[in-house]
Amino acid sequence: MSTEGKGYVIAIDGPVAAGKGTVAKRLAQDLHGFNLQTGATYRALALACKEHGVSFRDPENVLGVLSQITIFLDDTGVYLGGKDVTSEIKVSDISKGSSDVSVFPEVRKRMVALQQEIGQAHIRQGKIVIAEGRDIGTRVFPESPVKIFLTASAEIRAQRRLEQLSERGEQKDYQQVLAEVRERDRQDQERETDPLVTEPEKYGYTVVDSTLMTESETVKKIEQILKKANLYDQHKNTR
Ligand code: DC
Repeated sequence: MSTEGKGYVIAIDGPVAAGKGTVAKRLAQDLHGFNLQTGATYRALALACKEHGVSFRDPENVLGVLSQITIFLDDTGVYLGGKDVTSEIKVSDISKGSSDVSVFPEVRKRMVALQQEIGQAHIRQGKIVIAEGRDIGTRVFPESPVKIFLTASAEIRAQRRLEQLSERGEQKDYQQVLAEVRERDRQDQERETDPLVTEPEKYGYTVVDSTLMTESETVKKIEQILKKANLYDQHKNTR
């Protein structure tokens, strides 16, 4: 497929703490593209629910909150009603809450529409959108010319999550974080609407298992996949 001069989407899906965020950010820098963190939209909604005192598991009230707020993402951060919430949405209870609210089909419908709208705006400018989440290649941008499924063992993902939390001053026990990772995997894979797929190859993904890879090795591996698909050099060199 020729994509020269045109915007398109690189889809990166996978389970929690597989390194999607870091890898997508680095690819966006290298390719002068836009990193669309779709999880941030669910996280912003969870934060709004918390602020409104609404349970993450109460669909009617969650939708009520959603109808009252505006969520926006750009290169500078994540905005809830115009307020920068980029850091606030990264704490543990919001991580769990975002997985909870993402189960509701009507929430997903609206979030997918928002994510498509933001992605399309960048594509129209001829940009590459490096979109990461759980259902990019299956639902948000199923026409993506390349779909990466980035994964790693639950144990290594829990270890990485623990380090991220510690950097933010949140101290947690490894076993507790491992249990949370497994619970979010279960919830993301078992929800009825657009779940995280368990057999990614069947959906056209190339699987990258980063269990034994450093961050740089993972980025390199994905860049090789993009090069093979002729989706790397032209954008790296021409923008
Ligand atoms: O990628 P993340 O950890 O920021 O995502 C937070 C939650 O949002 C995740 O547990 C499930 C949900 N999510 C989703 O359902 N679909 C996406 N495309 C992205 C995230």
